[in-house]
Amino acid sequence: MNLTDNEIAKEAEYLQKELTRHNYKYHLLDDPEISDAEYDRMMSRLLSIEEKHPLLSTPDSPTKRVGAPPLESFETALHSVPMLSLDNGFKESDIIDFHNRISKLLKTDDILYTVEPKLDGVAVELKYENGMLTLATTRGDGITGEVITDNARTIRSVPLALSPDADAIVPSLLEVRGEVIINRTDFEKLNKKRLNLEKDIFANPRNAAAGSLRQLNSRVTAARPLEIFIYGTGLVTGIDYASHCEMFHSLKKFGFRINPLIKEKISIDEVFANYRELEKSRDDLPYEIDGMVIKVDSLKYQHELGVKKRSPRWAMAYKFPAVQESTKINDIIVQVGRTGILTPVALLEPVSIGGVTVSRATLHNEDEIEKKDIRIGDNVLVVRAGDVIPKVVKVIKSKRTGAEKSFSMPETCPVCSGGLRRIKGEAALKCINASCPAQLKRRINHFVSRAGFDIDGLGTKLVGKLVDSSLVHSFADIFSLKKEELSAMDRMADKSAANIVKAVEKSNSISLPRFIFALGIDHTGESAASLIAEKFHLLDNIKAADLEAFAGIDGIGPKTAAAVHAFFSSPENILIIDQMLENGVNIEVSKKRDGGDSKKELRGKRFVLTGRMELLTRSQAKKMLENAGAKVASSVSSKTDFLVAGEAAGSKLTKAQTLGITIIDEHALAALLKKYS
Ligand code: IVH
Repeated sequence: MNLTDNEIAKEAEYLQKELTRHNYKYHLLDDPEISDAEYDRMMSRLLSIEEKHPLLSTPDSPTKRVGAPPLESFETALHSVPMLSLDNGFKESDIIDFHNRISKLLKTDDILYTVEPKLDGVAVELKYENGMLTLATTRGDGITGEVITDNARTIRSVPLALSPDADAIVPSLLEVRGEVIINRTDFEKLNKKRLNLEKDIFANPRNAAAGSLRQLNSRVTAARPLEIFIYGTGLVTGIDYASHCEMFHSLKKFGFRINPLIKEKISIDEVFANYRELEKSRDDLPYEIDGMVIKVDSLKYQHELGVKKRSPRWAMAYKFPAVQESTKINDIIVQVGRTGILTPVALLEPVSIGGVTVSRATLHNEDEIEKKDIRIGDNVLVVRAGDVIPKVVKVIKSKRTGAEKSFSMPETCPVCSGGLRRIKGEAALKCINASCPAQLKRRINHFVSRAGFDIDGLGTKLVGKLVDSSLVHSFADIFSLKKEELSAMDRMADKSAANIVKAVEKSNSISLPRFIFALGIDHTGESAASLIAEKFHLLDNIKAADLEAFAGIDGIGPKTAAAVHAFFSSPENILIIDQMLENGVNIEVSKKRDGGDSKKELRGKRFVLTGRMELLTRSQAKKMLENAGAKVASSVSSKTDFLVAGEAAGSKLTKAQTLGITIIDEHALAALLKKYS
């Protein structure tokens, strides 16, 4: 049966509405109406309709939750209102001091508080323009965050559009803030899956949430069990709230997920009772929390109190005490990390601390062991605080028998027997052999990982075998692996060997930022790698750059600059890079963003379009700009080159003016397009 266009449009609309409703019922109300299989069937039907009829694929369609094509790097965006941090209190007196402090400032002690669990996840901001989700950012440094819109869209409890059922008028601009988390059981399932796939496991749900959110490929994020709770707002135009809890009620109606444990308008005495209750229920909650957040409920009072540089005066985190237990140190071993640093680790008599079995604790370095006088056989107090790796707080000296043995760091690397070096100004010892297998295996795992060369089929186990069997001594050797060598390895079928060679070939072309990231240089993550690539454009320019050139890049700190410069100054490293290139690695040339001839044209320039246009529709303008090699972003940031302001341009125009960005009208845009496309 052939459906008419109109019937297809109606079906798409029906499926979009139904999927949105079922999603809400499942993730916000915890009350599903249909089975997962039914949901998946409806989703795949809608996907196939939208694929054939792209016009029906609206920005708020639930199909947008499956992820978008991968990005090369993250853009950044300024927060309209800085995303602040919270002052921490640990004891009752810290909170009483807080209450007294603000009572004095407000000249009344009649203050009501709203208290919330302090969720242990990742802070994000979601921006809704005229009811539609248009931008999602991480907290970043509080002033500027990374744009993670495609990733946020995959989180089922993030509304793609504000709920039309809200009885309030949809605000023209609504920025909300919240914490992205992973539930404990989902976290365990995720790690189990990763173990089976021989991938590194996440240390805790918070790291898993952070790692999942910072994926350049949103399809990876879509497969991660992320959830969100909203706890505040940024810039809002069109609604005025009188209190923090009124804001929660309103946000709930717009379809946001609000934590059910929030207690509204309570006195300071009730705060303490609630804190004790929350602490008791902590281990029964499906997600991890590390304390309570206390906020002055009246927004008038909040404004009166104002903010300090990094935190508001009207809120405080009341942290739970870290959980401590005593146990015995059975032995002390030394681990060698990817960067060669030696870390002494205490092997403990397993002990349950706050519901988690702990059998190892870091001892940091030799100085720490000496300072605390830690010996093998000692009874010690061990602390586990949220995401922190368990550590030894102190030795219970009264329990010493005299049989304890003191420990000293080895003279040579415990893995390769190579020489060690003490890092200047630090207590850490480092193995100086860059081909030390301990470092090499980790370095290569990082090198071939998804954010690096992304080589399929080269899992942790295989990398271990390749290094152990001396087939791989350096990054370069990966690209000269032969099928015959591989199939001669233990339990390696011919077909698998051929597949690996194919996968290596398939991945040997790489962008400059990914290449830099893959090298695993100290202090150099994806965003630093992107900044370096953007600045230097070509590998040869990086090799020739001096320390000042790296240190002068906005967003690159002194440690990163020094590490990158040292890396590219090492003849051994240059040799390996040259061998890689000889072995077929191809570094794609990235587009230049500024400088030189590119100033005269549109290639690489970043545009933001805002306001009403008359000559062109926005989508036409966008297409033409993209055809001319320009990029069109949805939000203004310091990286924007031009803001095209139509009639009635609003907050984007103001922001562009504050940032000193070139502002043009659509006539000037048309002239530019004519000249350069
Ligand atoms: S309010 C100005 N509420 O804690 C107010 N933060 O240390 C700042 N967090 O970056 C945030 N649960 O990631 C607030 N109920 C809650 C929270 C919460 C967790 C995190 C958030 C923030 C950090 C501040």
